[in-house]
Amino acid sequence: MKVIKVLNEKEVGKVAGDLILSAIQSNSSSILGLATGSTPESTYEYLIEDFKKNKTDWSKVKTFNLDEYVGLSPDHKKSYRYFMNDKLFHKINIDIKNTHVPDGLKIENPEDYDKLISKNGGIDLQLLGIGTNGHIGFNEPGTSFDSLTSVVDLTAETIEVNSRFFESALEVPKKAVSMGLTSIMNARKIVLIAIGKNKAEAIKQLINGNISINWPCTILQNHKDVTVIIDEEAASLI
Ligand code: F6R
Repeated sequence: MKVIKVLNEKEVGKVAGDLILSAIQSNSSSILGLATGSTPESTYEYLIEDFKKNKTDWSKVKTFNLDEYVGLSPDHKKSYRYFMNDKLFHKINIDIKNTHVPDGLKIENPEDYDKLISKNGGIDLQLLGIGTNGHIGFNEPGTSFDSLTSVVDLTAETIEVNSRFFESALEVPKKAVSMGLTSIMNARKIVLIAIGKNKAEAIKQLINGNISINWPCTILQNHKDVTVIIDEEAASLI
């Protein structure tokens, strides 16, 4: 696992953004796995700036997002599909047909998402955030390392942390469709980003903890190509 410590959020976005851009430069048909939440915002801003300046061509890139809230339609303002369109897809020249976010309303056969990813050749680079409890995707503590895409329950902690995006914790969906830990481990390269003091314990577990389902992120110790990019606060316990 390669760990890159930088000064602040903007630098996290630059270093992660440059890794994504170099994947696209070496293969214009790259398959990217993408994340939502606060952490990737500086990365997406960096990619949009690059698009304005350098006209990086996204027209053949395909993307697969990690997760979506169950019960929210793609046009719901709090859905992750809406987030991705708003924060990235509508601001670069990606073909929206090449972008995939699990559908929060069609949850009958969630594993079809893994089949679609492998039909497209598998993920070249997976961008990940991390929860304060060590979740990656929405794979909460206790999730089997064998998991594929499935409908998962969010913990009270995740609902509370994510209530900042909603009017109140009561409005946060209690379930999500999430790529599983095996779905994530299948990516050829993984880039995990974290910002802020509240991620410090999860980062410590990710890097130095015993591999355990109590800290889902620790499975990444078994992956051969992981780059962790963190600011000073997230790095404060390592
Ligand atoms: C989002 C996702 C989650 C987040 C994590 C951190 O697609 O899969 O694992 O990465 O909850 O969220 P933020 O970045 O908001 O702290």
